[in-house]
Amino acid sequence: MAVDRSVMFTGIRFPNPFLLSSAPPTESESNILRAFDAGWGGVVTKTIGLHPVVNVVGAKAKFFRTGVDDALISMKKRPGAALHSSWNWELISDKPLDWWEPRLRRIKSAYPDRVLIASIMAGSGSDKELKNWQTLARSCQANGADGLELNFSCPHMDRKDMGSNIGKDEELCSVVTESVKEAVTIPVWTKLTPATQDMVVEAGACFRGGADAVVSSNTFPSLPIIDPDTLEFEIHVDGFVSTGGLGGPAILPISLANMARMCHAFPDKAFSGIGGISTFAQALSYFLLGCGTVQVCTAAMLDQAVGPNLIKRLLHDFDAFLEQHQSDGWKSLESFRGIRRNRVVAQSEIRRPDSSEYQGGYEPVEGYAPPDDVEVTS
Ligand SMILES: Cc1cc2nc3c(=O)[nH]c(=O)nc-3n(C[C@H](O)[C@H](O)[C@H](O)COP(=O)(O)O)c2cc1C
Repeated sequence: MAVDRSVMFTGIRFPNPFLLSSAPPTESESNILRAFDAGWGGVVTKTIGLHPVVNVVGAKAKFFRTGVDDALISMKKRPGAALHSSWNWELISDKPLDWWEPRLRRIKSAYPDRVLIASIMAGSGSDKELKNWQTLARSCQANGADGLELNFSCPHMDRKDMGSNIGKDEELCSVVTESVKEAVTIPVWTKLTPATQDMVVEAGACFRGGADAVVSSNTFPSLPIIDPDTLEFEIHVDGFVSTGGLGGPAILPISLANMARMCHAFPDKAFSGIGGISTFAQALSYFLLGCGTVQVCTAAMLDQAVGPNLIKRLLHDFDAFLEQHQSDGWKSLESFRGIRRNRVVAQSEIRRPDSSEYQGGYEPVEGYAPPDDVEVTS
């Protein structure tokens, strides 16, 4: 029996739930066409803005790798070292809106069955900036975007009224979402930053503003390592560095924890999961927590820039998973979405050992000091 890979997410039908996130893989028409050709169900464009964007001199992104036998985490390439994370301080698209407009139209007409989400960003300091959000939103809708993703999450914008500074402010999250919703009819997603106390607060604010989905998340604020020989940061300009964003395998468990809290707080809302995904098993964790789609950046960058092999593996393993569970009556992602949402509970709700097994915290455990020689009473 043929499996059904398609999903309905925020009213949009996706041929499969795997998207390229807003980042270098989606920075150009040719990349996006190659991505669709390879099989991605949707893309979120590199974030489009109205203000001038000038990136730093030199590399905008690099990759940390770590060895099997050493604890070294370094951007220096070493044979046998495995990917640890990506680090970037790249700003949003440096191409203006009128560069994107004809490209959005051409992409959509070349692949009408794939989903094109436009990521947009403006400021938040004035009514004029709210109008800028609306201008961007209307234009992307008019030029064929199926939906919008509001970037409330870039951790290293040059302007203080933009990016993650919006995502850290509950009120701004609501106000900006609401004004974009007033301007367009297509679904509006909001992409949040993990750099807040509790993302549930900002997710709630976005939903109150009318968001159709919350996307979690962007990269984590972080610094490159200092090289012990040169005493310079592994990536710098004239010896200086600012915080950038960490992505890739290192952030998977932390992103899952944030997602679990939000899916639990808003079980009926739509979530798109991002963070450290390179295999179907990793995407599955997000689906089981309640996500209806997932997005990938770092792993795709390292696979011919748009992830052609990666998407083939994701689709193959998704099909195999659905086939394996046909006897459970599972027909599509919807059959198992969210079935582990309620398994994340407070620590106090986790069962303690029976008193006969329980040694009062003196059990020998790998990674901990050996237990003191105490008498254990049962
Ligand atoms: C070089 C680079 C540029 C990025 N640019 C954007 C951007 O313009 N807009 C955005 O919303 N996220 C941007 N991101 C964040 C990614 O879309 C994604 O949220 C993040 O990398 C986590 O996913 P991953 O673990 O699969 O890499 C960028 C990430 C990288 C590495």
